Amino acid sequence: MTKSEFSFSEQLLAWFDQHGRKDLPWQFNKSRYSVWISEIMLQQTQVSTVIPYFTTFMKKFPSIVDLANAQQDDVLHLWTGLGYYARARNLHKAAQKVRDEFDGVFPSDFDDVLSLPGIGRSTAAAILSLADNQAYVIADGNVKRVLARFFALEGWPGNKKVEDKVWELAESLKPMAKLKRFDDYTQAIMDLGATLCKRSKPDCENCPVQSRCLAFAQGRQSELPHKKPKKTIPTKYTHMLIPFYQGSILMHKRPSTGIWGGLWGFYESDEAVDTLCALPDALSNELGIQQAQFQPLESFTHTFSHFHLHISPILIAIEGAIESAIESNSLTSKGLLQVEEPQNNAQETKALWFDLSKPSKVGLAAPTLKILKQLQNLY
Ligand code: ADE
Repeated sequence: MTKSEFSFSEQLLAWFDQHGRKDLPWQFNKSRYSVWISEIMLQQTQVSTVIPYFTTFMKKFPSIVDLANAQQDDVLHLWTGLGYYARARNLHKAAQKVRDEFDGVFPSDFDDVLSLPGIGRSTAAAILSLADNQAYVIADGNVKRVLARFFALEGWPGNKKVEDKVWELAESLKPMAKLKRFDDYTQAIMDLGATLCKRSKPDCENCPVQSRCLAFAQGRQSELPHKKPKKTIPTKYTHMLIPFYQGSILMHKRPSTGIWGGLWGFYESDEAVDTLCALPDALSNELGIQQAQFQPLESFTHTFSHFHLHISPILIAIEGAIESAIESNSLTSKGLLQVEEPQNNAQETKALWFDLSKPSKVGLAAPTLKILKQLQNLY
């Protein structure tokens, strides 16, 4: 029998048995809950980055009800540095929905899973196939690339029409039910995309389905899948004002929507640096001081998916005594980039003095962490 008398899924599964990844932390003691956490972390993030985050998260929140009952700050703290923080806020919300509407048991019905915040069609299919061996196929970024090449699919797979076609093709390759290996098949096709059918320099020599791959036959592996039509993203500018007093930094909790929602950050101003010779009113009212030493720190750029943010941190060294007006419940979040309407969680703490020698366990965005580390080295 020649190789091509086997179906795509059979060839892929035979390859997976020999070469697939079987020792990733989320492949042990699998449950819908643990697979869900890993799939959300793995969106837009590499396996090697996710591993320590996943292990710590599962230790801290062994069950979905533990996660539901946690404080948002504790969840975001464990996400510090992982990026795309909406993922963590949605995990927390979805866990609360499961606790309140599904008796604390992660649902096994596809439409119920799809109803949870932050879970789309491919993630729902990945959870139910990987954890329960249910007959669902996925179409994440890796799979889109594999299928776009295998079928020499024209167009950018993020485009709705092309994406619909990808789903149709993914369904057409689904393994036969009698194999009872929907779990391995999902992992196998992800592994093929991640380890051989990579974006650049795909390893076609070792590919189990090379003999039927249209992109390979046509020599179009580097052209396919077609790229997203290019658009340039804008640059925004911000100054981060960092009051420093007796070893501590004044920080504010950001509004729950907008960038870095729910994380802790610095007071921000878009004033040009040479006009910043006095504290903005809101900040000087909070601190009860008018004057301080301004010391610019090294500026840098942080890139989001839709804009670059040029950050100029400015240390505000406060000398002498201050009459801090800060009361933990009464502070506003004014001055933070993209301020939204205040939320009605007035009880929540909105500001804190962050002791550099005893860091608070709150969620921090990567640039905030970078500045804090720089300050820890300075002081
Ligand atoms: N990327 C998304 N899901 C994954 C998984 N289960 N294993 C490895 N990489 C992945």
